[in-house]
Amino acid sequence: MQDQAATPDAFWEEFYQTKRTTSTGQPSKTLARFATDLPPGTALDLGSSHGDDVIWLASLGWQALGVDISPVAVGRAARRAEEQDLSDRARFEARDLSVDFPAGQFDLVTAFYFQSPVHLPRAEIVGRAARAVAPGGHLLVVAHGAPPPWANHSQSEPFPTVESELAAAGYNPTDWTVVEAKLVDRPAKTPSGDQVTLQDTIIILRRNSAG
Ligand SMILES: C[S@@+](CC[C@H](N)C(=O)[O-])C[C@H]1O[C@@H](n2cnc3c(N)ncnc32)[C@H](O)[C@@H]1O
Repeated sequence: MQDQAATPDAFWEEFYQTKRTTSTGQPSKTLARFATDLPPGTALDLGSSHGDDVIWLASLGWQALGVDISPVAVGRAARRAEEQDLSDRARFEARDLSVDFPAGQFDLVTAFYFQSPVHLPRAEIVGRAARAVAPGGHLLVVAHGAPPPWANHSQSEPFPTVESELAAAGYNPTDWTVVEAKLVDRPAKTPSGDQVTLQDTIIILRRNSAG
């Protein structure tokens, strides 16, 4: 079992110091599929980890901000942006989004697997994220729809469904257009190398200009 008593900042700092120390350098598949043809604007990524998605957006001309609770992850992301000469467009901030959400509105707000085995008021933060989307902009949220079969931990909230994601975002058809809202299979490998199928929820909403 994970240490359910760990505070979120201590849990994630330890995670990045000891467990996740590298990244693929590749953007999330759903982001690459959806955003490649979007006109660049301003973007915010929640739980930005080592910054792959923010750096990819910046390489396409976006002004992108990544926020993560782990200063170690944020430091690595900022260094990688600098190495790629993208630090003028890829910025990173260490914040606990449950208490401190960036001000302003963004043309694209993303969250990829923004989930946690320790305290995370995720639905509340997804709602806050939706309110940070500028008119005509998009909210893109991808989440584990179920725990991986090999995992022995829970997370602080139930695994999301498409319906619960739309509800968390405050979806209503007057203010939003649904671009995608679905449960998809994702092939993956277990830590011992066996092939399995995981399930992800994906919601992509566009804020109506008059909304
Ligand atoms: C499961 S990881 C996903 C990381 C990355 N988006 C990805 O797709 O690989 C969840 C991320 O959310 C961050 N996180 C967890 N709780 C947070 C909070 N309250 N505020 C900001 N970031 C948080 C963690 O540090 C971690 O980087």
